[in-house]
Parts: sequence; C-alpha cells; structure tokens
Amino acid sequence: MISSSTTGAAKKGTAENAIVQKITDFEKMQAGRPDFDQSNSQIEVTKHPDPQWQYGQGVRKNRHSESKHIEVDPYAEGRPMVHNYRLLVSGIAPRPIGFISTVSKDGKKENLAPFSYFQVIDHDPPMFIVSFSARPQRVKDTFRNLKESGECVINTVSENMIEAVNATSIDAPYGVSEWGISGLHQAPSTTVRPARVQESVFSIEGKVVDIKEFTNHTEGTSLAALVLIKATRFWVREDATNDDVSHIDLEKLRPVGQLGGISYGRIISTFELPRERWSDEMPKYALLSELDKSKSDV
Ligand SMILES: Cc1cc2nc3c(=O)[nH]c(=O)nc-3n(C[C@H](O)[C@H](O)[C@H](O)COP(=O)(O)O)c2cc1C
Repeated sequence: MISSSTTGAAKKGTAENAIVQKITDFEKMQAGRPDFDQSNSQIEVTKHPDPQWQYGQGVRKNRHSESKHIEVDPYAEGRPMVHNYRLLVSGIAPRPIGFISTVSKDGKKENLAPFSYFQVIDHDPPMFIVSFSARPQRVKDTFRNLKESGECVINTVSENMIEAVNATSIDAPYGVSEWGISGLHQAPSTTVRPARVQESVFSIEGKVVDIKEFTNHTEGTSLAALVLIKATRFWVREDATNDDVSHIDLEKLRPVGQLGGISYGRIISTFELPRERWSDEMPKYALLSELDKSKSDV
C-alpha cells in the first residue's frame, strides 16, 4: 500500500495540487509528431478481439496475469489530491465531453465550458450527470449558473471542434463569455434560455433536478458538486440521423474522448458484440445449464 510517509506533505489548495499545469516545450514536442489525419476516412469495423471465446473462459490471452496490484488509500496523509486526479482521469478513460452552455439567473451572463466528469445515465427519462471539481478560487461558473438558473444545454464535441472547446476551459472571470473566445456560433433553444452550439451534431436542452454538494473536499478550495439534469429537448443535425431520429451516425459524430493528462482519443476502428439472452443460451451450453440448476429457489 502507498503510505503517507512516501508521498510528502500535501499543501492544500496550493500549486502542488494544481490540476492545470503549465506544459513546457509543448510546441517542440508537437513539432515532431505526424499531422492529424484529416482524410475523414471511413471508420473501420473489425471482428471483436476473441471470436472463439466461450462461457467461463475469462481472459484467454492475458500477458499480465502474473502482475501484482498496488493498494492505494486515496485519503492517505500526505498523498496530494492531484495524484488522485491524475490516477482517476488516466484510469477511467475515455470519458465523453459534455460541452455545457449556461446563463446567469438574470440571463445576462453567458457561459460555455467542457466537462468530462459527465455521462448520460438513463434514457427513460433521459437523464445526465455532470460533476464540478473543487478549485482554489470560486466555484465553477457553470455550476453557479446551473444552481441559480436551473437550466443548460449539453452539446456534443466532435473532432473538428476540439481546439475551440478546449479554449473555453480557460479560467476566465465570471461574466466573461467563452462564446467569443471559442468563435463557435449560438443557435436558439426552445425550452431553456441558454443557447445551443450550432456546430455540435447533438445538443440536449435540460433542467436541473438535483444537486449533491460534496462537503469533504480539500480544505481551502471551493465546493465540489454533482448535478443531475433531465432533458427537455433534443436537437440532432439532420444529415447525421435517420428518418425517425433514433440514431446518430458515428461517421458524422466523430466523438472525442478525454484521456489522462492533456490527451484525447478519436475513434478510427470499432467492433460489434451481440448481447445474449439467458433463455436462448442456457439450453445450448453445459456451463450455463449447470449454473441454472444450482440457482437457489426463490
Ligand atoms: C476536456 C475538458 C474536460 C473537463 N472536465 C471537467 C470536469 O468534468 N469537471 C470540472 O470541474 N472541470 C472540468 N474541466 C475544466 C473546466 O472546463 C474549467 O475549469 C473551466 O474553466 C470551467 O468553466 P466555468 O468556470 O466557466 O464553468 C475540463 C476541461 C476540459 C478541457
């Protein structure tokens, strides 16, 4: 287990815990890399990784089965908060990016920012979560607006937008609109006041249904919080969907996933894997039939 003595003293709300760090020599590093492949070539669909896999086989080709795991207490004294941040964002990846448009309660201050502690959590009703990290200064402007106005638009992020989206993550003072910083365009919403992003393939108007504030965040930082949002309207780009608007074409969406550090991933290859039903599979496989016999009576 990683113990407190090995990690040094944590300085609360200080540079040691700063999530946004100055990257030195980025231009130099970038210069040695190949250009982004702009060819928009069709996303490849391959077989799934192990088409011969059978029930009960676990991971058949595992080069790491002998590797040990290190136990970490996230609250160990002296473990800097930023170590948990880096571990979590690199280990829980890729994460979708919710690009959130909000306005202040009086409707005068517009805000736009990306969040990857974000997820759709149900479709009936359509529900989303977004979580705001604590920081040394004020709470995130998006959180303040959501709490005060109860409304937002969640917009998807495609490859061609990522620089503009990233630019809106700058810690601009409250009241400075990131729309101008991004150069993205506003399109009108119907059920909420914030505008949606014209360039996004998919936008979701939504209203806040619950907020959970985390009181045990690092001392000296703003509040962290989770917001639950219920969709009130969908907007889907016409060329990216089908007749009954029940599907979004991956070729058009070209989503970007956030990885650890300052890394992002794109989708250039996919595979399909059907989901099975117990009633179809159980009679065909001895292992499932045995398991079925061993089930406890209810
Ligand atoms: C791709 C991306 C994902 C981000 N995800 C989150 C997140 O999930 N939670 C969070 O608090 N900040 C996140 N940030 C940082 C915020 O976007 C940043 O703090 C921003 O300044 C908040 O804007 P606001 O204060 O105008 O709401 C992310 C930044 C980027 C670039």
